[in-house]
Amino acid sequence: MTALTFPLADAARRISQEERDAVLAAPGFGQHFTDFMAHARWSIDGGWHGGELIPFGPISLSPATAVLHYAQEIFEGMKAFRHADGSVWTFRPEKNAERLQRSARRLALPELPTEDFLASVRELVAADEPWVPTAGGEAGEASLYLRPFMFASEEFLGVRAAQQVDYYVIASPAGNYFPRGVQPLVVWITDAFARAGAGGTGAAKCGGNYASSLLGKREAAQNGADEVLFLDSETHTAIDELSGMNVFALTRDGRIETPTLTGSILEGVTRDSLLRLAADRGLEVVETRMVAEDVLARVASGEITEMFACGTAAVITPIGEFRSPQGAWTVGDGGSGELTLALRSELTDIQYGRAEDRYGWLTRLV
Ligand code: COI
Repeated sequence: MTALTFPLADAARRISQEERDAVLAAPGFGQHFTDFMAHARWSIDGGWHGGELIPFGPISLSPATAVLHYAQEIFEGMKAFRHADGSVWTFRPEKNAERLQRSARRLALPELPTEDFLASVRELVAADEPWVPTAGGEAGEASLYLRPFMFASEEFLGVRAAQQVDYYVIASPAGNYFPRGVQPLVVWITDAFARAGAGGTGAAKCGGNYASSLLGKREAAQNGADEVLFLDSETHTAIDELSGMNVFALTRDGRIETPTLTGSILEGVTRDSLLRLAADRGLEVVETRMVAEDVLARVASGEITEMFACGTAAVITPIGEFRSPQGAWTVGDGGSGELTLALRSELTDIQYGRAEDRYGWLTRLV
């Protein structure tokens, strides 16, 4: 099959520099979108075809479109970073391409070849380049958040894998994911809901996993928490992940712990990168079953000194307190842990070109 390209529509419209600058001055997260979006279509007969860059805007769907009924949909999250010399880079994009392929297999969607995925991102960011915030923006780390996604676009109500699928990449200038910035989170541990079950779609990046987290998030908010932590669905004892982030613990004796990838946890690119950075710092990396009760006891005894959440959008955000129907536990002194912030800087320094890209994690886009 021929590789996809994403040519820009002729009558391409751009918003004015003033309007764009107003957005970039305080982008927040996920609220503003760029001028263009990448699109391609897959059909059972024609495979992937029709790559294009079109103006960002509403898409028209039949009310009988399969995704609206059976949620056959997957997505990715990645970022474009501007370096001090003006160049624009992204972080380990082939990991996102591969994860989109794994998610596609689980959701019975067609796999988008890595080179087509990379072309869609590269060509969109080239067209939307003025939207990539300058280095040193909000909190020194604004970026252009990229959201590739694909969904069953066939007009059909039978339950089977769709024979037509649409793929898009949209882009959104982003500051901090959490409105309070890099402040320690209060995390609610729910025993009422699970995010994903054994044999389910927990490891896939599909919208359904996020939909199933929302009631837990609401419960968290009702208990004054910023985020919700889900336990495994079988025993309701072991830590899985937050609504859209992996979880880590740091111990007094130099260990970094995170739940093993059981099949119901998302294989985070940030998670994987941190395991590498931590090992190279001399921390003992432990991927293990983390029973919440034990973790809380070790938090209370001071054996666990820091905990944090991580993901592309959230980067690394400290956890200052856990709450559950059984009580409340302060992690360390409740503030942002020193090692957490050091790992955070190490990662973001690589992403923004302030430190050497010693693992070859960056790909230049513009
Ligand atoms: C990301 O971190 O990129 C995600 O997709 C998670 C979502 C909570 C924004």
